Amino acid sequence: MPVSIDIQEEWMLSIMETTGENKRFMIEDRSGQPVGMTGIYGINWIHRTCEFGVFIGVKEEQGKGYGSEAYRIMEGFGGKYLNLRKIKVFVVKENAAAVTMYRKLGFRQAGELQDERFINGRYCSVLILEKLLGGG
Ligand SMILES: CC(C)(COP(=O)(O)OP(=O)(O)OC[C@H]1O[C@@H](n2cnc3c(N)ncnc32)[C@H](O)[C@@H]1OP(=O)(O)O)[C@@H](O)C(=O)NCCC(=O)NCCS
Repeated sequence: MPVSIDIQEEWMLSIMETTGENKRFMIEDRSGQPVGMTGIYGINWIHRTCEFGVFIGVKEEQGKGYGSEAYRIMEGFGGKYLNLRKIKVFVVKENAAAVTMYRKLGFRQAGELQDERFINGRYCSVLILEKLLGGG
C-alpha cells in the first residue's frame, strides 16, 4: 500500500518500542550491515505465549541461515529471559521457505485457516504453527 512519509516515520518510532508486548530487533551481517528484522509479538504474560516473525529483506542474503539463527536467538531470549512457554507463527501455506524452516526448527502444525489472506489477486491459506519451549 502507498505510505506517506509522516505515517512511515510514525511507524518507525512505534517499532522501536521494546518495553511492551512486542520486542523487535534488526538482523545484521558480521560487518554490521542490516539484512532483515525479527521479533516476538503479542506477548501474553498470563498464558506466557507470543508470536514470532522474521523477514530477511535483502534477497541475496536469504537462504544463508539468518532466519534460523534469528529464531534460535529469539527462542532463547523468550524462554530464558521473558519466561515464555509457547511460540506461534502464522505463515502463508505456499511460502515453502518459511514452512520448511519452521518445521526444521521444531514447529508443529496446529491448524489451517482456509483462504485467509488476499494476496496478489487471490486468497491464500495460512498455517498456524506452534512450538512449546523446553520448560513447558
Ligand atoms: C522465510 C525466511 C525467513 C527464511 O530465512 P532464511 O535465512 O532465508 O532461511 P535459512 O537460511 O535459515 O534456511 C532454513 C531452512 O529453510 C529452508 N529454506 C530456506 N530457503 C528456502 C527456499 N527458498 N525454498 C525451500 N526451503 C528453503 C531450508 O530447508 C533451510 O534449511 P537448510 O539450509 O538446512 O536447507 C526468509 O527467506 C524470508 O525472510 N523470506 C521473506 C519473508 C518471509 O516469508 N518471512 C516469514 C513469514 S512467517
